[in-house]
Amino acid sequence: MSISEENITEVVTATLKSENPRLNEVIASLLKHLHDFVREVEPSDEEWMTGIQFLTEVGQTCDDVRQEFILLSDTLGVTALKDCINNRKPEGATEATVLGPFYRDNATEMELGACISRGDNDGEPCVVRGRVSTPDGDPIAGAVLDVWQASYTGLYEQQDEHQPEMNLRGRFRTDDSGYYQFRTVKPHYYPIPGDGPVGKLLSALGRHNYRPAHIHFIVSAEGYEPVVTQFFDATDPYIQSDAVFGVKDSLITDFKTVDDAQAAERLGVPVGGWLAELNFGLKPES
Ligand code: BEZ
Ligand code: FE
Repeated sequence: MSISEENITEVVTATLKSENPRLNEVIASLLKHLHDFVREVEPSDEEWMTGIQFLTEVGQTCDDVRQEFILLSDTLGVTALKDCINNRKPEGATEATVLGPFYRDNATEMELGACISRGDNDGEPCVVRGRVSTPDGDPIAGAVLDVWQASYTGLYEQQDEHQPEMNLRGRFRTDDSGYYQFRTVKPHYYPIPGDGPVGKLLSALGRHNYRPAHIHFIVSAEGYEPVVTQFFDATDPYIQSDAVFGVKDSLITDFKTVDDAQAAERLGVPVGGWLAELNFGLKPES
């Protein structure tokens, strides 16, 4: 068979003979879109090598703690798209968004009201509280909220030798009325790693590498689908231009200042501290 621009996709697709039908399906689709991409772009030999070199550098930048391919997927919106598809939710259930690379398992379970900031409390004190409920609004007792965030300097504890181990991480269990509360510091916007090939690509495209201030959550309860999500500060300068496309309207919240002395004392923050009220809805397991 003589290979041509017209027949090559069909010829290559005909070679797919895995016993795993899903593998054949995925690779056939990849071939179709990849070949169409090349037909549309018509890359020169030099451009093709630039692409190969870029992907080589992405691979070479990965190690035990750095995953540049995930960062590439995140910054191209592929992770956000995949998460939208895999987390279609009914009305009343909290929307999911990207997990990110900084989650650590085994955060300590803490008493309701405890503080997840273990250091010298640098940053602006903030109380986070709310309820976990069903999509219809019935409280879910015993739901677990696994929480993590960056410090006021915009670094997660594993990126920063000045922070104590497991700083700004904790687990909380809702009480009988589905209620939780904890103390932390107000999150700040931060840059995702910009010193590798993905950072260079973003600069070349005229894009920044910042994420708006957010707190990460994985909320789970027996009999419900867990949700991996984040809540974002409505006033953040990057709220409309998240480098990884994780922001959804339903996940934007107002951090309010606590100006009343009695309320501040009750919440365990100084006057002028912050309060975020974040409610979660979990979809029953199907
Ligand atoms: C994060 O929010 O932790 C994150 C998400 C995607 C890429 C980098 C960081
Ligand atoms: Fe984050």
